[in-house]
Amino acid sequence: MSTETQATHRNPFQYIMDSKVKTVTTINGKDYLYFAGTGYYQLQSHPKMIQAVVDATKKFGIGSATSRTITGTTNLLLKLEEKIADFFETEDAAYLPSGYLSDMAGFQALEKTGIYDVIFIDEMAHYSNADGALVTGKKVVKFKHLDAKNLSNKMEKHLKNGEKPLIATDGLFPIWAELAPVDKYLKIANKFNGAVWVDDSHAVGIVGETGRGVYEYFHLNSERLFMGATLSKAFGAYGGFVVGNSNFIGAVKSGNVMTGTSSPSNAMVSAALKGLELVKNSPELRRKLWDNAVYLKKGINNLGIHVEDNYLPIVTFVTENSGEMERIQQQLMDKGIYIQFVKYVGSGSDGVLRMVVTSSHTKEQIDFLISSLKKLI
Ligand SMILES: Cc1ncc(COP(=O)(O)O)c(C=O)c1O
Repeated sequence: MSTETQATHRNPFQYIMDSKVKTVTTINGKDYLYFAGTGYYQLQSHPKMIQAVVDATKKFGIGSATSRTITGTTNLLLKLEEKIADFFETEDAAYLPSGYLSDMAGFQALEKTGIYDVIFIDEMAHYSNADGALVTGKKVVKFKHLDAKNLSNKMEKHLKNGEKPLIATDGLFPIWAELAPVDKYLKIANKFNGAVWVDDSHAVGIVGETGRGVYEYFHLNSERLFMGATLSKAFGAYGGFVVGNSNFIGAVKSGNVMTGTSSPSNAMVSAALKGLELVKNSPELRRKLWDNAVYLKKGINNLGIHVEDNYLPIVTFVTENSGEMERIQQQLMDKGIYIQFVKYVGSGSDGVLRMVVTSSHTKEQIDFLISSLKKLI
């Protein structure tokens, strides 16, 4: 192997999880108070979710060894799609093996239904959103992060007569927890006869009165709005989905992603059904999560570290350089606390320190994080 290859492909798997993901999680053989990841309700470890997986595995085995459009569709899968559509109050839904694929499937189906000619995408959109856009082979124009004015200007410049835009963005950005101004984007889409695509992976289940994500948060309802997301975060399961009208979802279901991949494991379908049920029937989880987020953010702000004062459970900050951030992460680990030092889309090249609070954390655990951090900054 050349030295260049060795230098550019360092082992990215520094931390090995040796347990279920919980408030106390085992990493590299040691227990840590865990403030990371995206399991906002920690349903990933809920006994009812685990039982759902065991039951479905006993009935269906591991997988179907065929795609959905051959014989890989089970009644359980159809039920899940019905329940996803119920949850998001849309006509129909399509379930996919991952959230990453939901963007690609969504863009391809929107293209088939003739919704757009040019994609305008937030420059910080998630990898799956950006990659999904590129795979269409359509013209893709990036606009400034969260900037509706810049988006409008780019449209004026790049759209030819009669061309329709698709505005693509994440709903809730994973690093800085910003909500995309989709209300403004919808107005722009209306003006240019276009549509909006949101990857709402981080917001579904936790944002909006009933957890339907950013569209619910902004009280939006329009035939121009489209959405895909994951079930692997708030819903505690696996797989992605796309929701919308039946024509669009029909195009997803007969599209390349659905046809070209094995049907998702029924174990995960069963977990997803249980996760949707738990989130839908337990609004107290959402209230507890919001309450914990506000509590943590207040504590962090009191340390003199400015973070947005809201109920979103992602709490991120930077110090002067990555070495310093790595030091803070390591010294917190010495005290038995794990937070992320992460380089990701939206973090910049130095990376950020990212904490995630869940509905399962106690106030004492949050206090311990704040007081430990206080001694290190
Ligand atoms: C915005 C966004 N979209 C998509 C994904 C991918 O979802 P999945 O893990 O189900 O493939 C992620 C996961 O991190 C994400 O943050």
